[in-house]
Amino acid sequence: MIFYKTDEEIELLRESSLLVSKTLAQLAKEIKPGVKTITLDKIAETFIRDHKAIPGFLNYRGYPNTLCISVNSQVVHGIPSEYELREGDIISIDCGTILNDFYGDSAYTFAVGEISEEKKRLLKITKESLYKGLENAVVGNRVGDISSSIQLHAETAGYSVVRELVGHGIGKSLHEKPEVPNFGKKGSGIKLQHGMVICIEPMINMGRKEIIESGDGWTISTRDGKPSAHYEHQVAIKKDKVDILSSFEIIEKELNK
Ligand code: MF3
Ligand code: CO
Repeated sequence: MIFYKTDEEIELLRESSLLVSKTLAQLAKEIKPGVKTITLDKIAETFIRDHKAIPGFLNYRGYPNTLCISVNSQVVHGIPSEYELREGDIISIDCGTILNDFYGDSAYTFAVGEISEEKKRLLKITKESLYKGLENAVVGNRVGDISSSIQLHAETAGYSVVRELVGHGIGKSLHEKPEVPNFGKKGSGIKLQHGMVICIEPMINMGRKEIIESGDGWTISTRDGKPSAHYEHQVAIKKDKVDILSSFEIIEKELNK
């Protein structure tokens, strides 16, 4: 069943979601060659707890950390470790919070130092695919209108869309109905209605769409070893224009300093 949120609940969700964005903005300052991904995880955990919130992913189905950090060919759910970032890496950082009893969830893919032109294009197209989906996230449309617009943009650019992992409703649980795939048919799926809060999170591969699960039980990587990018916004469905609860502006303000 779908849990519709009142306007008051949407404001509580916005606070939680904005805390995720602020956390990602803090991390943006720290991302450089030589930094261990576990160090980023500790910074995020401290920052979230200092803001009277709880890391949303920690212990979720046994997940061991605050962040999911997925480097290069890792798609999502990478576990922070002693790995030291290198110039030219791309890293997707996915972060969750629980504040006011509501979940925040958003992700951003960062460049470590200077990255190749082909990786820059992957990041640009993946973020654009998310925003194509957002344009379609309005009352009266269907989930398939979001899905198909993401898929069209990514595939037109020559990339592929991961099938096994999808966006989702979010509220007092991290994953609620409906599922929001990043591929599908225009006009298909359930109708979007006021009060739905969803996460839209395209995972776009430079090469083929197939993925593999690693032995750690979490990390998902591309089968062909080529890079993958991931951006996620948490949004409330409204009548004429989507209400984006998370914010990339505060992250990009740090990146552009
Ligand atoms: N952000 C991921 C999602 O959107 C959640 C990671 S699940 C965890 O579904 F278990 F790794 F925390
Ligand atoms: Co999510």
